[in-house]
Amino acid sequence: MDDEANLTYDPCKRVQDEAHVKNMDAYRKMHQLSLDDPEKFWSDIAKQFYFKSPTTGKFLEYNFNVNNGPIFIKWMEGAITNMCYNCLDRHVAEGRGDVIAFHWEGNDPLDCTKISYKQLLDEVCKFSNVLKSLGIQKGDRVAIYLPMVLELVVSMLACARLGIVHSIVFAGFSSESLASRILDAKAEVLITADGCYRGNKLVTLKSIADDAIRKCSQKEHRLKACITVKHVTAKGFSDDVTARPAIRPVEDFKYDWNPEVDKWYNELMNDVSTVCEPVWLDSEDNLFMLYTSGSTGTPKGVLHHVAGYMLYAATTHKYTFDYHPGEVYFCTADIGWITGHTYITYGPLLNGATSVMFEGTPMFPDCSRLWAIVDKYQVSKFYTAPTAIRALMKYGEEPVKRFKRTSLKVLGTVGEPINPEAWLWYHKVIGNSQCSIVDTFWQTETGGHVLTPLPGCTPMKPGAATFPFFGIEPALLTEDGKEVEGPGKGYLVFKRPWPGIMRTVYGDHARFEKTYFSKFPGYYVTGDGCTRDKDGYYWITGRIDDMVNVSGHLLSTAEVESALIKHPSVSEAAVVAKPHEVKGSCLYCFVTLKEKVEFTDEVATQLKQRVREDIGPIGTPDYVQYAPGLPKTRSGKIMRRVLRAVAQGQRDLIGDISTMADESVVGVLFQNRPAQKE
Ligand code: PRX
Repeated sequence: MDDEANLTYDPCKRVQDEAHVKNMDAYRKMHQLSLDDPEKFWSDIAKQFYFKSPTTGKFLEYNFNVNNGPIFIKWMEGAITNMCYNCLDRHVAEGRGDVIAFHWEGNDPLDCTKISYKQLLDEVCKFSNVLKSLGIQKGDRVAIYLPMVLELVVSMLACARLGIVHSIVFAGFSSESLASRILDAKAEVLITADGCYRGNKLVTLKSIADDAIRKCSQKEHRLKACITVKHVTAKGFSDDVTARPAIRPVEDFKYDWNPEVDKWYNELMNDVSTVCEPVWLDSEDNLFMLYTSGSTGTPKGVLHHVAGYMLYAATTHKYTFDYHPGEVYFCTADIGWITGHTYITYGPLLNGATSVMFEGTPMFPDCSRLWAIVDKYQVSKFYTAPTAIRALMKYGEEPVKRFKRTSLKVLGTVGEPINPEAWLWYHKVIGNSQCSIVDTFWQTETGGHVLTPLPGCTPMKPGAATFPFFGIEPALLTEDGKEVEGPGKGYLVFKRPWPGIMRTVYGDHARFEKTYFSKFPGYYVTGDGCTRDKDGYYWITGRIDDMVNVSGHLLSTAEVESALIKHPSVSEAAVVAKPHEVKGSCLYCFVTLKEKVEFTDEVATQLKQRVREDIGPIGTPDYVQYAPGLPKTRSGKIMRRVLRAVAQGQRDLIGDISTMADESVVGVLFQNRPAQKE
């Protein structure tokens, strides 16, 4: 494996021959142009989209340096457009209305449907009219808490059509997380579903939403409407779209129903016109917000804007996956995360693509499901996360080999560094050594890929995110802010804006400036560490702040700590990441208890449950360890490096403890380690 991991893999000829960018010279030229003349580069791309009126001010204007005044970024000032129009109406107007936008594949393999661009446009116009009739208008916020159903895409596009800011909350989040996001955004409407199945497990979304609504009203925030999609209790998406078979009967389905607020989606959509003029928006109007964990513990609402995000989502989708019309593209992410926003909804639709939208999990009904879907729809571009690849690797090659997968050409990964072993398995077993792998590095904040190979040209190294995308100028900085030249490692930063970069944190511009621009004035700071090798390849080494990447999802240690502290027995808590074979990292919690409280298995279970309730199932800690005392410096700062060493059971990772207030704590912590799962 070691030898193979150190090799460089050239793109396959069959991918290269048809690629938009066929060799590294062509890539370098395009990249150079994107830096030398961003206006020329991006305005040429903008020509494929519909702008009601062109840029009237500067094409790009920004300040990245906090010492020179407020941070701001503006692309295509004064241009007028609409995202939804470009995703749907434009294709219909140009004769592509019958192209399939989505093959929808339910949790149950018998449960599937499809929708064309024209049908999707009709549904979106109808739902836009519904939102209008509820009095929701440009600038208002709508929270969406839906499983992976087509109504999710319809809802987000209807918002985009009217200039309403959608805030999608991943349907695996708890009522607490949902409530805090509704409150922060002051959302007027919540869109949810009765429930959904994940594998065999029924998730009663409406009752979780009810809990969240109660929590909001305790804080004096009342919704204008809660719209519920009948998903598991009813058949069919809409009268004129193929009805889905095989819906399971649902018993004991309990939810609140307040007729003043609660409405059934399906009823609201009856007898509504399929005509709805888009609201024409300024290039820098808000498009959507999406909450991401922040190192202070409170999630931040990352805001993306209309025109820049549109150009970037479309361009990255086209080049990174080397997408060509007619191909079937499949991204396994959930739309609740940024990957789903950019690479299930907006990027593919802007490019007129045909995608698979998948409600289920890779393990249901068995661990060959993804490959069954690939063969069923003849998927050629496939995008998933390292954690899924590692989970599937455990079952060996047989479940994969049951299916041919010969349609595959490009395999993408995202969310966390991919270990070379998983990369090689992806390449050799899933891709039959016939596909290009694109290890795409990006963030909720970047809107789209910022470091990535291009499938037809970049020689691949297992585990490297390789080179910058068009418009991206990366640098590595030392702790004192000096740029590293040539090979070396440091903080990964970007020196200038690209169209898809976030513009602010919702309601808190100061937090935006502090989080991303204050450590190194003049640069956008990703929070990731990175190495550049002798060939100029970028290798992400992971977070260097207090964030933990669990299965590709960022959680802040502060957020988990504050959940633990809420338990009446806990006086202090500290949380670190521990490497995990499948999840990449898992949460390892240390808790100090109040006087006279005993640490028992029951307390540990309650604490795990507490975090799960506050954050949702992805936040469930793997370990809770009793810590009579925490390792602290004399000034009282927790020494997380020491806790990481304890979590991993490796004394050699402790490092220098000369500044520690009480060194005896370390021995006790090593003694108290709970049974480890590895
Ligand atoms: O730490 C990096 C990691 O995921 C973080 C961004 O998380 P989020 O905003 O939730 O978006 C995830 C999907 C874009 C990054 O700061 N990350 C993402 N992609 C990679 C990665 N780490 C290494 N390699 C990647 N390809």
